Amino acid sequence: MRRLWLQRTATKAIAFFVFLLIVFVYVYNFVFARINEDDISGSTEMFVRQRLTVKYGINCSAIYDMEPVELGKSLAVHKNKSYVGPSDMKIANATSDCDRFVVSEGFDAIQGSEFEREFPLAYSLVVHKNADLVERLLRAIYMPHNVYCIHYDQKSSDDFKSAMQGLTRCLPNVFIASKLERVQYAAISRLKADLNCLSDLMESEVKWKYVINLCGQDFPLRTNAELVSDLKMLKGKNMAETRQPGGKKWRWSFHHALKNNISEYYKSPLTISEQKLPPPYDLQMFVGSAYVTLSREFALFVHWSPLVRDFLVWSEDTYSPDEHFWATLVRVPGVPGEVMRSDPDITELTSKTRLVKWVAFENILYPPCTGKHVRAVCVYGAAELRWLLNYGHWFANKVDTDVDPVVIECLEEKLKNR
Ligand SMILES: *[C@@H]1O[C@H](CO)[C@@H](O)[C@H](O)[C@H]1NC(C)=O
Ligand SMILES: *[C@@H]1O[C@H](CO)[C@@H](O)[C@H](O)[C@H]1NC(C)=O
Ligand SMILES: *[C@@H]1O[C@H](CO)[C@@H](O)[C@H](O)[C@H]1NC(C)=O
Ligand SMILES: *[C@@H]1O[C@H](CO)[C@@H](O)[C@H](O)[C@H]1NC(C)=O
Repeated sequence: MRRLWLQRTATKAIAFFVFLLIVFVYVYNFVFARINEDDISGSTEMFVRQRLTVKYGINCSAIYDMEPVELGKSLAVHKNKSYVGPSDMKIANATSDCDRFVVSEGFDAIQGSEFEREFPLAYSLVVHKNADLVERLLRAIYMPHNVYCIHYDQKSSDDFKSAMQGLTRCLPNVFIASKLERVQYAAISRLKADLNCLSDLMESEVKWKYVINLCGQDFPLRTNAELVSDLKMLKGKNMAETRQPGGKKWRWSFHHALKNNISEYYKSPLTISEQKLPPPYDLQMFVGSAYVTLSREFALFVHWSPLVRDFLVWSEDTYSPDEHFWATLVRVPGVPGEVMRSDPDITELTSKTRLVKWVAFENILYPPCTGKHVRAVCVYGAAELRWLLNYGHWFANKVDTDVDPVVIECLEEKLKNR
């Protein structure tokens, strides 16, 4: 009798305890959820980036396979100008809560293999607008063991500057260049922006093996692992376009000057008829792209050499010095990874750094542009996805969400799934 009574009491006590536990968990969850909701409705509102491939059911594999129905859908997105990205201010705001920003934007999930970690890379990003696209570029090339220098233009908007500063606050291996230029088209300031980053990157604790410079309308065509594997095969050589100057000698045979006029943002330096002295040290001039992939040893040479310093001073009043500076220096006898002066031209299509489609060579060297032309260069469209990914180059120029957001989404997707 007494045992039965004890048993009943014990059962009741357990039942009561379980009841208390359920109430506690419920109340706790309720309060906790409320706290979280308050957090969400605060000023650090995250944004959800439009995914047009999802919204319109566009299949990137089918785009890659050039299926007409899918290409048709992407063409409609292109024609409708359907993409509305987060504003610079929205991105700046989102970075005010870094813990949430890195999670919601997926930066926290990115990690390299041992193979990649033992071969860190450095990037110099010279950008001036569209924080949405810059953040997407950064995420596409991001690895926690690499290092990234962002040079924004002194003329950039305050919102853009805050967005860039926000990125550097949230990502410990991303920083703003210690010296910022007012970048003017085809002038020395463009080259100096990269040199400022390069000099900061030399000071970085990350012992990177190669440095790559990009602009805000570039996008990778290779994963970090694929890039590292290609770079290892270079065995210390640089990857830069370097050609005989041909018809471009006027760029340094005459003095050039920029009128100091704020409204002349996009105006290039003007030729002043006065003849210019030839380059110092009997340098033989070559031309190429402003965008290059350089070994650490070569970058050290650029950083310390008096020849480079003098050549830079001489280049100050030339037209578009960034397009002869690297091309000439990689051919200086004895430099690390030297390209012999007698070696044939390394063209834009043989140098793998950057794939650019010039209107003049469409239908000759490559299929026509399916996006839109800007100053004789193609802004890629979705129908070029296959060509871009199969060409073998490392970066594409140009992409723009205002022209074709689908090609960018598909590049993001394809690289993520490799
Ligand atoms: C996308 O297209 C590919 C190839 O065209 C096809 O194999 C795949 O099943 C498609 N995926 C979806 C979700 O429709
Ligand atoms: C394009 O605009 C038309 C007309 O407004 C709309 O019916 C269609 O769904 C849009 N398509 C895309 C892919 O944006
Ligand atoms: C950004 O934050 C500020 C201050 O909290 C707020 O006034 C503004 O509306 C926010 N802007 C956007 C686009 O979220
Ligand atoms: C600056 O440019 C504007 C517009 O091109 C022109 O009207 C003005 O005269 C220029 N000022 C100087 C100081 O050259």
